[in-house]
Amino acid sequence: MNSKKRLLSGIQATGKIHLGNYFGAVKNWVAMQADYEAFFMVADLHALTTAYEDGISIKNNSYEVIADLLACGIDPNQAALFIQSKLPEHSELHLILSMITPLPWLERIPTYKSKREEIKDKDLNTYGFLGYPVLQAADIMVYQANVVPVGKDQAPHVELTREIARRFNFLFKTEFFIEPEEKFTQFLVIPGTDGRKMSKSYGNAIYFADSEEVIKDKVMKMVTDPARQKRTDVGNPEICPLFSFQEIFNPDLAAEISEQCHKAGIGCVDCKKKLLGKMNDFVAPIREKRERYILDKSNLDDLINIGTQKAKVVARNNLEKVKDIVKI
Ligand code: TRP
Repeated sequence: MNSKKRLLSGIQATGKIHLGNYFGAVKNWVAMQADYEAFFMVADLHALTTAYEDGISIKNNSYEVIADLLACGIDPNQAALFIQSKLPEHSELHLILSMITPLPWLERIPTYKSKREEIKDKDLNTYGFLGYPVLQAADIMVYQANVVPVGKDQAPHVELTREIARRFNFLFKTEFFIEPEEKFTQFLVIPGTDGRKMSKSYGNAIYFADSEEVIKDKVMKMVTDPARQKRTDVGNPEICPLFSFQEIFNPDLAAEISEQCHKAGIGCVDCKKKLLGKMNDFVAPIREKRERYILDKSNLDDLINIGTQKAKVVARNNLEKVKDIVKI
């Protein structure tokens, strides 16, 4: 028996991994993988709830994300790393859970309302989109995960998972499902190149797949303190997105840069140049690794298979028990 607690987390397959994903989630996954029996998945079915006509790009992105995760340090010998749709157990449990999940529980989930308002170019008035958090509950429950490391925005989904688990146990007079706990990992929200939260949908993200030239271009165009119009204007690092990057990539120089910025001793262009070298030192080895994974497709497939098999043993077993309990 494995005495470690079980951990599951997932990332949507809507795009490749960017620095915001890394500092908001993936870095923590890497740090936690040794202490838990860890399951990390690429949520391609979740991506399909909003991008249902973009199967091909979701499929391509899933491979790219797996390569990114491996390059960032997820160890396939330690954690189970897999793509959600390769395990039909998730979909099957999702369907069973959907039978007992009251509609009002789903309608009041904040992400349901906000995403529907945000994504205007797609008809999200669908059964699948409303069921997004039920699928997420199935992801967690099919492994009986104890711990779910997520950003704060995902807390209502883990809360719903607990409610569904409780309701299942109550209705079927069982204690089968445990109640998972969220573990917040968003200790660093890193801004995008326009100063808003880094996000694929804002087009302000810096990816591990970006070449050195692309990153240079993005950084040189990056927004800084808007009050600093001229080189002689003094700046305020506290509200400058560029400075948030300096704190992450250039911690030894950050205090000095801040002081100089306050008295217009350093300009934004020079500040960006100081960042670029450091950022590239960090990104380059990960970029090289991810490229090697992408080029060796059969190795990548092997690694995905290993993760899928590991996950399958647990998911299959739990799903069979659920079916017994439900008596089907
Ligand atoms: N909904 C999560 C997000 O957008 C991704 C996700 C899917 C997930 N299934 C999960 C996260 C299960 C944690 C556990 O970030």
